Amino acid sequence: MLTEIVQTDTPEATRAAVNQAVTLLHSGETVALPTETVYGLAADATNPVAVAKIFEAKERPAFDPLIVHLPSRKSLHEVAEVPAELEADITRLIETFWPGPLTIVLPKTALVPDLVTSGLPTVGVRMSDHAVFKKIARAFDRPIAAPSANRFGRISPTSASAVQEELDGRIPLIVDGGACARGLESTIIRLEKSRGPKPFFHILRAGPITAEDLKKYGKIVREEHNEAVEANAPEAPGMLASHYAPRTPLRLLASPDEFVPQPGLRYALLSYRGQKKDGYLGLTDWAETLVLSPGSGKLPEAGIRFFHLLRQLDQLEDIDEIIAEPVPDRGVGAAILERLRKAATGSGV
Ligand code: TXA
Ligand code: MG
Repeated sequence: MLTEIVQTDTPEATRAAVNQAVTLLHSGETVALPTETVYGLAADATNPVAVAKIFEAKERPAFDPLIVHLPSRKSLHEVAEVPAELEADITRLIETFWPGPLTIVLPKTALVPDLVTSGLPTVGVRMSDHAVFKKIARAFDRPIAAPSANRFGRISPTSASAVQEELDGRIPLIVDGGACARGLESTIIRLEKSRGPKPFFHILRAGPITAEDLKKYGKIVREEHNEAVEANAPEAPGMLASHYAPRTPLRLLASPDEFVPQPGLRYALLSYRGQKKDGYLGLTDWAETLVLSPGSGKLPEAGIRFFHLLRQLDQLEDIDEIIAEPVPDRGVGAAILERLRKAATGSGV
């Protein structure tokens, strides 16, 4: 299959791209679309045949459920049952954070095929804030299933060219909407009624909407593992502990003294802010050093650049190991650390 890439750099080009994408979605095809987090591989969420093409192109195992993207807040009720005891909390959340990088896990309706949710009774729902995605979602006016547009377990794409590296020849169209503004996948939460005035928010995946952003609205419970998904895959316990993995082995350090270079090996460094005083730059003669947020270190900027730089490091020839500096464990830093841990677990295969 030939994979076409279309631009959205002028109003005319955008109109043509939107039409082409919507036509493909209607005909049950997949298209790669930009979102504010990472690029997604989209299909009509109500069409199981179209959804199956997502799993096939990504080589994604059927036990890993897809996120559903809505054209509007009011269409939430088409795909999800909003429990009465959480309705006010959910309304407040979506009025505050949608459109934006927050995915909420809710009981699904019959409109959502089991394939989308991998047989789970719940569905992860969000509304993207990307200008081009919004145009396509509104014109299509149906729920869109869209996981990240990478092959299963690999580094998420934050540009059209990264999607091309992942899925060229497997999908008919990539809509180029520029580099993603957030660079990390959406925060995923599940709500649970508590005895107090605020519900529990179980954070299933850390992301651009941080625990600090959410704590005004709920009591934060951090979850190391996505229980719903793991319960769904009893034959592959811990499999999802590995994700976002480069081909080159990756190690996340907690402190500089953990690293003892072996003679003859070539190392690349993923540095947080590229400062000597942090103690990592001088540890060895790095074959390459890439810096997430040069200078004082800004976590949102580090998040935007994270997958892009990881992909760049993974493309270097003859690197034996990628060494990652830790980033501060607060704000978007929590989301970066979560991805670094998973990237380290699955790297080098
Ligand atoms: O930012 C994003 O969320 C991007 C863009 C494209 O929207 N999408 C994305 O999708 O990251 P994906 O498939 O790469 O990650 C979705 C993850 C699944 O791996 C699963 O862990 C979780 O969402 N998920 C989906 N449905 C769920 C459910 N019903 N219960 C628990 N977790 C769920
Ligand atoms: Mg993904």
